[in-house]
Amino acid sequence: MRENEEFEVVFPAAADLDKWATKISELIAEAAQEKNSGLAQRTPEHIRKKINEGKAVVALRKKDKTLAGFCYIDTWQNDTFIVNSGLIVHPDCRGKGIATLMKHELFVYARKNYPNAKIFGLTTSFAVKKINVRLGYKEVPYSELTTDDGFWKGCESCVHFETLVKNNRLECKCAGMIYDPENPRRSFPNEETIMFIDSDNY
Ligand SMILES: CC(C)(COP(=O)(O)OP(=O)(O)OC[C@H]1O[C@@H](n2cnc3c(N)ncnc32)[C@H](O)[C@@H]1OP(=O)(O)O)[C@@H](O)C(=O)NCCC(=O)NCCS
Repeated sequence: MRENEEFEVVFPAAADLDKWATKISELIAEAAQEKNSGLAQRTPEHIRKKINEGKAVVALRKKDKTLAGFCYIDTWQNDTFIVNSGLIVHPDCRGKGIATLMKHELFVYARKNYPNAKIFGLTTSFAVKKINVRLGYKEVPYSELTTDDGFWKGCESCVHFETLVKNNRLECKCAGMIYDPENPRRSFPNEETIMFIDSDNY
């Protein structure tokens, strides 16, 4: 478990944390209304499924164990591509390092368990781009991301989905970013990420 002064990050999230599924779905829906966001909706059922599959990370406030953030991991093309999806931090808890903690947790898991996989994401968020760059991701054309239809189906509920289709899945509002283990922007661990590594586990 990773933590900072106020928050703890649980991965894999325990099954009873699925009680937050509806709240998480609502937070994502609210964030999707914000101008310039490129967020796909995630239903409570989908969120519950990811928690119960052991693929989700949940951040909690230490003082009362209430929800602070959420994200999950998916694998595509026979585990050769890994993505973080559904990333959300409660509006009251933003700017306190929670997304950083959650994404590092999932990144270490992915590198350890799928060392040859490319780790990628789509985002319009400056904060997420910053986290990704520190981990060693590069911005790439969509043609370098997975071609798995299952992944792109996840974009259907985004307000920009028509743009994605019109551009034959080669361009949209989000930046495509990838950590390619054979050609990372910087190696991992590095001086900014080393504090997240438990050397016994990586
Ligand atoms: C994007 C989001 C997940 C970031 O979560 P967070 O916990 O606030 O992020 P962190 O605190 O870990 O911030 C990471 C870095 O980005 C910076 N940052 C955070 N929010 C920022 C903002 N709105 N503008 C500029 N920089 C920002 C932080 O200062 C930090 O940099 P630092 O380490 O140099 O101080 C959160 O704002 C959110 O839930 N937004 C709505 C949903 C969304 O956009 N999800 C992303 C989908 S890909």
